[in-house]
Amino acid sequence: MTQGFDRDREEFSRGARAVVVFPDLGGSSRDNDARLEETAGLAAAIGVEVVERQAVRVRAPRAATLIGSGQVEQLATLGRQHEASLFVFDASLSPIQQRNLETALEAKVIDRTGLILEIFGERAATAEGRLQVELAHLDYQAGRLVRSWTHLERQRGGFGFLGGPGETQIEADRRLIRDRMARLRRELEQVTRTRGLHRERRQRAPWPVIALVGYTNAGKSTLFNRVTGADVMAENLLFATLDPTLRQISLPGIDKAILSDTVGFVSELPTQLVAAFKATLEEVVSADLLVHVRDVAHPDTLAQKADVEGVLADLGLPEGTPMIEAWNKVDLLDPAAHDEMIAEATRREDVVAVSALGGEGVDTLLRTLADRLTQGHRRYALTLDTADGAAAAWLHQHGEVIDHSVDEAGAHYDVRLSPADHRRFVERHGEQRDIHGA
Ligand code: GTP
Repeated sequence: MTQGFDRDREEFSRGARAVVVFPDLGGSSRDNDARLEETAGLAAAIGVEVVERQAVRVRAPRAATLIGSGQVEQLATLGRQHEASLFVFDASLSPIQQRNLETALEAKVIDRTGLILEIFGERAATAEGRLQVELAHLDYQAGRLVRSWTHLERQRGGFGFLGGPGETQIEADRRLIRDRMARLRRELEQVTRTRGLHRERRQRAPWPVIALVGYTNAGKSTLFNRVTGADVMAENLLFATLDPTLRQISLPGIDKAILSDTVGFVSELPTQLVAAFKATLEEVVSADLLVHVRDVAHPDTLAQKADVEGVLADLGLPEGTPMIEAWNKVDLLDPAAHDEMIAEATRREDVVAVSALGGEGVDTLLRTLADRLTQGHRRYALTLDTADGAAAAWLHQHGEVIDHSVDEAGAHYDVRLSPADHRRFVERHGEQRDIHGA
């Protein structure tokens, strides 16, 4: 990482006292309290202490400060009362607005994109994740250079040697950022290629991949842990999961499948991040089956569902990828709502109500996953010529070999195949002597 990047992060020292502000511009169907709650959760994820939260009704957005001047004053008073050194605005602020608010509030100000970048920066665990975050961060910084050259210069002492403040300094900073971004992109390509190779190797194994997707804090990691017995960090921290985590699981009637836990989605995901995280979400795009984990106890559960589906569409999810919804956290519902939810889920083939925390419904979910994956699969008993290595390799690659033995008659396989793969096998290797469905 560049020095500047690291130093930027230090500004949000752990334990800093922060006020969370939601500028309510109207027109949102989301619940203000839930919105403040989510942002406070995001802020907690970078270790700051949220001392106050405030929704501010904005009737006419101001170019200079977004919110009205009286509101700015009120916030300044609030900040002083609570000795806050940071304001987190749950909105997109222009560089000018950010600077003006910082001056008026006498505190550091970050907006939603800045906050999410901080979190991603803290959570990125793999080389690829770190590169992606740094790239996104630089992209964000490049857009803010007009306002922040002094700020950058102050932070990065080393950048100051090119001369005093002014256009030249901005240009120099820009060039440094551009060069750094180009280098990062090259490194990223390399890392992504290596990961692609790993994935290809895995895809050659005949194991289906199931990807968990869902809004941040929906309970993906909790479900992942319950199903795999793995100890993935599951905390009440948004974005506890950043890089996809893969585990082998067994499902009823399926020897092996791969379960992948992915980064949580949020509404208004900064565009820089959508692009930067596409690679991280490749697992999702190439999955055989998606499980959309939803927090059905959340007041904005429907808006969150729409957000997740929007991001999936942006990612280029192939049409017709099978998807199951896991309606999670049913334990938090009152008894009447709980029963209604279970009844509705039971009526629908693509929905399973669960409590990842308590375990309710998880067995049903696993059975449903297995059924979905093996829909249409049939068992075939095949006898191949023992010399036909290519056909045997193909079967191992595409089918689930349940049993295998060799005698004078040839190599016998008891194998489970999808109808499509069975057709492909016959096309490639011809009709086998003993082929039959079981
Ligand atoms: P991100 O990493 O932000 O994407 O979150 P995630 O979807 O992986 O959520 P995670 O598993 O970290 O769970 C978030 C919070 O919800 C944690 O505090 C969990 O304990 C809680 N939680 C998850 N499942 C359930 C559930 O079924 N019932 C209840 N009551 N809480 C749950």
